Amino acid sequence: MRAIRIHAYGGPEQLRVEDVPEPHAGPGEIRIRVSAASINPFDGKVLGGALAGGAPLAEPIGFGFDASGVVDELGDGVDGVQLGDDVFGLGSQTQAEHAVLTAWVAKPASLDWAVAGAAGVASETAIRTLDLLGVGAGSTVLIDGGSGGVGAAAVQIAVARGATVVATAGPSNQDYLREIRATPVVYGEGWAERVAATGVGPFDGVFDAVGKTPIAELTALVDDPAKVVSIANFSATEAGARLTTGGDGDKVGALTEAARLLESSQLVIKTQTFPLDRAAEGYEAILSGHTRGKIVLLP
Ligand SMILES: NC(=O)c1ccc[n+]([C@@H]2O[C@H](COP(=O)([O-])OP(=O)(O)OC[C@H]3O[C@@H](n4cnc5c(N)ncnc54)[C@H](OP(=O)(O)O)[C@@H]3O)[C@@H](O)[C@H]2O)c1
Repeated sequence: MRAIRIHAYGGPEQLRVEDVPEPHAGPGEIRIRVSAASINPFDGKVLGGALAGGAPLAEPIGFGFDASGVVDELGDGVDGVQLGDDVFGLGSQTQAEHAVLTAWVAKPASLDWAVAGAAGVASETAIRTLDLLGVGAGSTVLIDGGSGGVGAAAVQIAVARGATVVATAGPSNQDYLREIRATPVVYGEGWAERVAATGVGPFDGVFDAVGKTPIAELTALVDDPAKVVSIANFSATEAGARLTTGGDGDKVGALTEAARLLESSQLVIKTQTFPLDRAAEGYEAILSGHTRGKIVLLP
């Protein structure tokens, strides 16, 4: 099968489409024929060797943590899903023609393959973090970075739960934030004054979806620093804020909530798609740090 791989860390120029052996579903897993797989910023970090501590790559590796597709192999102990079913969810090395998923739900028939392929990591992360913040009906939440993959999902899921949302983005994404029913604020110098000027607040929680704003500026918006949860600032805990990195949470429960909201159009994920052969362009976009919604590869 064809899969995205690298033989050395670096930039998008290192990405290759290669023929590799098909993976197989282990116990409790399924394999899919991939219809769409998203690129997440973490893929860009792996590509650049950020997790390798300076060591060279020992052997070729693949990429991708979420996908949509048609089930073509069932691991031992899997029930509730059949060969031929349309699903989306979380897995590994999904930027390939076949991939193994470890958590999945049925794809609503009305849902576009690319959108379903984009939904896994972004919606699970958004829901996990909103749950940690206790966001529900009547909550008032600030989402710092509301226009990216996770942030835009978080805005819409919070609104669907009945929360009031203020979100930050760059100047070109203010209309997009309005479209997804957040009160928009431009991030950067003076942002806290602009948040105050919206008149919305006090905030029950702050969702740090990008990790670029100094954590002290976020904790200043709430009466307890633990009401700030970051998904991207690894020093957040030093200031008493919380960090979530993905090991915790009910993944199938989150995917189920996402599927319901996607089917009812309460969650709309904007996608930009590339064929596998043009993955480098998709990675360039992710590495820019200024995409709107999600970048998706179509094998
Ligand atoms: N902990 C976890 O479990 C977990 C899971 C998934 C992702 N993450 C991490 O979370 C981060 C976001 O992921 P993602 O998929 O949402 O990324 P993404 O889609 O690439 O996010 C891009 C967005 O970030 C916004 N942005 C850039 N600089 C900003 C700033 N200074 N303030 C506020 N927003 C800013 C951009 O807005 P403009 O274009 O409007 O400038 C753009 O919309 C990444 O670091 C990723 O690795 C963590």
